[in-house]
Amino acid sequence: MSGGVTSGSDKAWSDRFDQGLHPSIERFNASIGFDINLLQEDLDCSIAHAQMLSDCGVITSEEGIEIQNGLEVIRSEAAKGLFQPTLADEDIHFAVERRLIALLGSVAKKLHTGRSRNDQVGTDLRLWLRRQIDEFDLELVRFQNALLLQAEAHRQTLIPGYTHLQRAQPVCLAHHLLAYIEMLQRDRDRFQDVRTRVNLSPLGAAALAGTSVPIDRHKTALLLGFSDIYANSMDAVSDRDFVVEFTAAASLVMVHLSRLAEEVILWASEEFSFVRLSDRCATGSSLMPQKKNPDLPELVRGKCGRVFGHLQGLLTMMKGLPLAYNKDFQEDKEALFDAVGTTRASVEAMSILLEEGIEFCTETLASAVDSDFSNATDVADYLVSKGIPFRDAYQLVGRVVKSCITNGILLRDLSLDQWKGFESCIEEDLFQRLVPKEVVAARISEGGTAFERVDEQLLHWRTRLGS
Ligand code: ARG
Repeated sequence: MSGGVTSGSDKAWSDRFDQGLHPSIERFNASIGFDINLLQEDLDCSIAHAQMLSDCGVITSEEGIEIQNGLEVIRSEAAKGLFQPTLADEDIHFAVERRLIALLGSVAKKLHTGRSRNDQVGTDLRLWLRRQIDEFDLELVRFQNALLLQAEAHRQTLIPGYTHLQRAQPVCLAHHLLAYIEMLQRDRDRFQDVRTRVNLSPLGAAALAGTSVPIDRHKTALLLGFSDIYANSMDAVSDRDFVVEFTAAASLVMVHLSRLAEEVILWASEEFSFVRLSDRCATGSSLMPQKKNPDLPELVRGKCGRVFGHLQGLLTMMKGLPLAYNKDFQEDKEALFDAVGTTRASVEAMSILLEEGIEFCTETLASAVDSDFSNATDVADYLVSKGIPFRDAYQLVGRVVKSCITNGILLRDLSLDQWKGFESCIEEDLFQRLVPKEVVAARISEGGTAFERVDEQLLHWRTRLGS
């Protein structure tokens, strides 16, 4: 490597420098502590680049092969734990290049022809995120399947449906769970959409302006599986929109997870008692021997802050940056890595919760839907079917509910005579409509909670997700 510019370490910078970095600034500047995560992608990127350089006649094919083999040696050294960059390497790109030079000598110094760390890091990051998105999709499918299995087991189970967290109308539990499958599908679709913009190659944009070396950007793009190349070299090295977009999509995943987490926390409380948590997914208290705590969903709820924070941090890091590459971009990595790691771990935890951590208390649920006024709308709908305008029916039922509350009874406790006292058109058939199962079964509008509608949706998802 070039002249003795640093204190003990062998920097890749030019002989322009007389002095090494201040040790604290070396630490401050270095990204190797976290961009070591990009090792595999950095090797892939360099292997493709070397192949292209040799195909284009910039280096000989013997040199190309030697460099590629050297990079594979680094890969196997890393697999054995023998590749251990130090702070002096600054980042993964320098670390790999330095090791390659140590292995191969001067031929390795040809690798960086026609590229810069600026297009290199953008390439590595995109390759890394693309793989993460693909793996993540499988985890989202696992979660959808876990929800679907619970839904299929509870096609006949009813649960109070809430608005304003006040009992509103009973619904089929499967319907409730299917709502989350829909949310997760939107998350999957969003990630696929983001992926189309992740999957573009910035390689060959070089520092910012392109290069005079006769490279073939389409060649490296093809070798690395990118669908196309960035059209503008300055945009190529300074675009981190895809990192922001991914983190925004991940934030929505966390929103969805935390909504379900919150429901589970409520349901597991003594007050609701709608679910029991299995020992494998609940924790105890160090003080109170009777406690069984829902730490898992609480943590998922709590981890939202990290991911949302990263989104805010990334947007702030990007704003106002002049073209083209700025070192600020180095700050994208820890945020992205943690957003990916946190979201994936949260999805996995919630999958396990649904798979083996939760049991619905069907008896409590059955009595919950049978002990309130959540069938009041059905009386109004019944009156509408008798020709009474909805608003009048609504007012009338309001009076009925009020009198029931005063007398400490439910709608089903009124006799036919008492009903007729409120409205003479009411007949014996009203009683059937007040039964919770009938209330649910009657909601047959498309997208409604009627059993037949829910069964259609279960079939739809079973087919879509496979078995
Ligand atoms: N470690 C740097 C980053 O993460 C790599 C690119 C450095 N480029 C530069 N011109 N200093 O962004």
